[in-house]
Amino acid sequence: MEFHVSTAAAEKQRTACLMLPVYSKGAALPSATRRVDRAIGGLIAEIMDAGDMQGDAGNTLLLPVAEGLPCKRILLVGCGPKADFSRKNYLTAVRAAFAAWRKTKLATAASYLTTESPRGTDPYRRTRLAAECWYDGAYRFTTMKSGDADEATSQQELTLCVSDRQAAPARKGLKHGIGIGEGIDLAKDLGNLPGNVCTPSHLAQVARRIAKSNAKITLEVLGEAEMRKLKMGAMLSVTAGTSEPAKFLVLRYKGSAASKAPVVLVGKGITFDAGGISLKPPPQMDEMKYDMCGAATVLGVFQALARLTPTGNVVGIIPSCENLPSGTATKPGDIVTSMSGKTIEILNTDAEGRLILCDALTYAKRFKPSAMIDIATLTGACLIALGRHRTGLLGNSDQLANRLLTAGDRASDEAWRLPLGDAYDAQLRSNFADMANIGGREAGTITAACFLARFVDETPWVHLDIAGTAWRQGARKGATGRPIPLLMEYLLNH
Ligand code: BES
Ligand code: MN
Ligand code: ZN
Repeated sequence: MEFHVSTAAAEKQRTACLMLPVYSKGAALPSATRRVDRAIGGLIAEIMDAGDMQGDAGNTLLLPVAEGLPCKRILLVGCGPKADFSRKNYLTAVRAAFAAWRKTKLATAASYLTTESPRGTDPYRRTRLAAECWYDGAYRFTTMKSGDADEATSQQELTLCVSDRQAAPARKGLKHGIGIGEGIDLAKDLGNLPGNVCTPSHLAQVARRIAKSNAKITLEVLGEAEMRKLKMGAMLSVTAGTSEPAKFLVLRYKGSAASKAPVVLVGKGITFDAGGISLKPPPQMDEMKYDMCGAATVLGVFQALARLTPTGNVVGIIPSCENLPSGTATKPGDIVTSMSGKTIEILNTDAEGRLILCDALTYAKRFKPSAMIDIATLTGACLIALGRHRTGLLGNSDQLANRLLTAGDRASDEAWRLPLGDAYDAQLRSNFADMANIGGREAGTITAACFLARFVDETPWVHLDIAGTAWRQGARKGATGRPIPLLMEYLLNH
C-alpha cells in the first residue's frame, strides 16, 4: 500500500473512492462533504434527508458518480452524532470505510474523515490512527495455508486529506502509523505461527533480520551454555523438559549517545506452554502458542524503531524456550537458584513465565536502565480481572506507571493499574526456599508481579500482563499486536 497526505479540496480529488464523512440525526454536512454535494447538485443532502443512510458510526453507502467530479465513487461514511464525535466513533468510522473499500475493486481512495475533529485527537493522531487501522483491517495470516489462499486485493493507494495548516503533523502521524503498523504485522505473524515453526531459534532469526536491516540495531544471542555460565538457574529450569534449544536474545537500539541510559524492554518468549509437569488441561491448549506474545511485542517494537529511528536508546531482552513435560523436566517441589542468587521453590511448573523473566530482569541490570518494562502473557487471572479490553499494569514507580497509562490512552491501546504491596508479596512465602513461584489462587496477577518485583530493586519498572489483550478468540481468532501502540507512544515521546 502506498500512503499519502493531501491538502487538495474534495471536489478536485482525483481518486477512485472518495470517502466523505456524514453525521447522524440531521446534522449539517461537514465542509468537505458539502463542497462535493454542491458539485453534484445536492444528491448527498437528498440521500441524508430521505433517510437512505442514517449516518450512525460505521454506516457506509457507496454512490456512483456520473459527472462533475474527478472521482469514480463516493463512499459516505457515518460518524454518529456530530455533537458527540468521539475517538471511538472515529475509529469505528475509519474501520468501516476501509472495510467497505476493500470490498470493491477500486485501486485508490482519498479519505476526508481526517479533516473532522473527534474529541481527544489532533491531526497527528488522526492520520496515525487511520494508518494503524488500515494495517489492522488488511492483515491476513495465510503463510501456513497451501495454494493461493492470498485473496488478491485491488487496493493500492490511500490518501489521507487534511487542511494546509495540518499537513506537517498529519505527515508525521502517517509516518508513525506506518512504522507501528509494520511492527504490529510482524508481532501478529509471530504470534499466529504455530509452536513447531515459531521456536526460540525462529525468534532469533527474526531478530537477526531486524538487526541487519538497520545499523543502529545490534543483536546478541545467548545459548544454553552461556545461560549456565551466567547461572540462570530459573530460566534453565523451564527449558529442562524440552529438547528444543532455548535462546536468550539481546537487541540494542542506539538512537542517542551511549551515555544515555536506555529503556529496557523484556518480553516473555515461551514458544509453547504446555504447563510442564503441572500439565495444562487439553481445551484451548493450542492457544499457548501465543505465550511468546511478549517477545513478539519486543520484536515488533524493534521493527518499528528500525523504520522510525527516533532518539533514545532501547534494549530488548527476550528469554525464550518451551515449557514441556518429560523425564528431564522440573518437578513440583524442586528448588532452583536464580541468576540473582535467590532460591525458588517451584510449586507449580506452569508458573514458568516469572521464572524466565526473573533471570532476564537480573540480566537487564547490567544496562543501568532509566526504566524497565516487561511484557508477558503471564497470568490467566489477568483475563479474569480485566477481560480482553485492557492490559494489566503493575510497577514500583508511579511516574513510569502514569506515563505508560497515558501513553495507552493516547494510542487507543489501554491499560489499567493493579496494586503491589507487602500483603500480597507475603503470599509467596516458602518453608524451604527464599520464595515459592506461586502465591495461591487469590490475586494471581498481583502475586506474579510481586514475584518479579523481588528481582528489580530501585530501577523504575513496570510489568504489563497481556494475557487478555495479546490475542483474540472466536471467529477473529488471532494475535492483536498489543501493546505495541502503547509502547511506541511512550518511546516516541520519551
Ligand atoms: N501462559 C500462562 C498464562 C495464561 C493462561 C495466559 C491462559 C493466557 C491464557 C502462564 O504461564 C500460566 O500458566 N500461568 C498460570 C499461573 C498459575 C499456575 C499460578 C495461570 O495463570 O494459571
Ligand atoms: Mn504456564
Ligand atoms: Zn506461560
